[in-house]
Amino acid sequence: MEEVKQNPVQEAKPERKKIMLSGIQPTGTFTLGNYLGAVRNWRQTQEDFQCAYFIADLHSLTVRQEPAKLRKQSIDAFALLLACGIDPAKSLVFIQSHVHAHAELGWILACYSMFGDLSRMTQFKDKSAKHADNVNAGLFTYPALMAADILLYQPDYVPVGEDQRQHLEFTRDVAVRMNSIYGSVFRVPDAYIVKAGAKIMSLQEPTKKMSKSDTNVNAFISILDEPNVIVNKFKRAVTDSETSVCYREGKDGINNLMSIYSVITGNTYEQIERDFAGKGYGDFKKAVGECVAEELRPVRERFAELTADKAAIEAIYRKGAETASHVAERTLDKVKKKIGLLAK
Ligand code: TYM
Repeated sequence: MEEVKQNPVQEAKPERKKIMLSGIQPTGTFTLGNYLGAVRNWRQTQEDFQCAYFIADLHSLTVRQEPAKLRKQSIDAFALLLACGIDPAKSLVFIQSHVHAHAELGWILACYSMFGDLSRMTQFKDKSAKHADNVNAGLFTYPALMAADILLYQPDYVPVGEDQRQHLEFTRDVAVRMNSIYGSVFRVPDAYIVKAGAKIMSLQEPTKKMSKSDTNVNAFISILDEPNVIVNKFKRAVTDSETSVCYREGKDGINNLMSIYSVITGNTYEQIERDFAGKGYGDFKKAVGECVAEELRPVRERFAELTADKAAIEAIYRKGAETASHVAERTLDKVKKKIGLLAK
């Protein structure tokens, strides 16, 4: 009798949605750099990926924080994620310290992190130079905690800006080390770094990345800045002594403005050069300021609505913590078993 073959369509497994995960520190209102390099892309990934995004409050402790301010900044940062379009109905959104597994796996991975590798991290070198009076052990082992944040959720991709690439490489190395000792423990994730917007520079010192901790408020755009403030900051942006709007090596200020304008409008550099041919930097700066103000308008409006209802925000992060804990603990239990810790 002829064997009855199963329908190959029924046989085929439905394709798994790839997993994306990323985090952001609650150390002040997000900048345009955070937005274009990271959060805006997170919003766009929600349809095609299974996403998890969180507020990395444990990471912010590596720099001394004022408790009441940190609490406010954490809830504001959570609301900002939502205001930027991270939708709790589509993505898992939570606060890092609400999920104990992060700190626990962070310790375990610190024991598999090499002193030499940690010493080479540029963020450690930069931050220890900047906070010379507080070069604490957490600042040094930060990448092990970041590796734990990531590996707990077994993601395929980690969408970050260029400045986090080195930490991602570190995470991959730790995952590969653990897998080679204990068999398959972790999925080894790839960094997901968009070409345009991955490194937005300071408006005042365009060779430095835009950072929310800059002491000069004209150097960065906060995503809650009012439209007139945004336009004025762009008017004051440092450029060069030439006059033509074109993307060229050495024109750091103009290159930065062109990349911001290009990400937001979708126009290529050639198109921008054509559109602003014969016009001065003044016109271009105004156009960049206006398009940024327009892009951020809905974020600002949504943030105001969301923060008017604190209880609703709390309900979202509590639910997020519950789901995240469930996922994270599965991985943590697996790791503990593999490395030889006794089950309860
Ligand atoms: P954080 O809070 O410094 O920044 C959050 C995200 O914003 C990106 N970013 C930028 N992108 C382009 N231009 C800029 N000027 C700019 N400034 C910041 C960052 O690359 C980042 O993607 N260690 C992380 C937080 C973290 C994390 C994680 C990220 C903790 N655990 C696990 C991913 C996965 C940090 O300090 O990002």
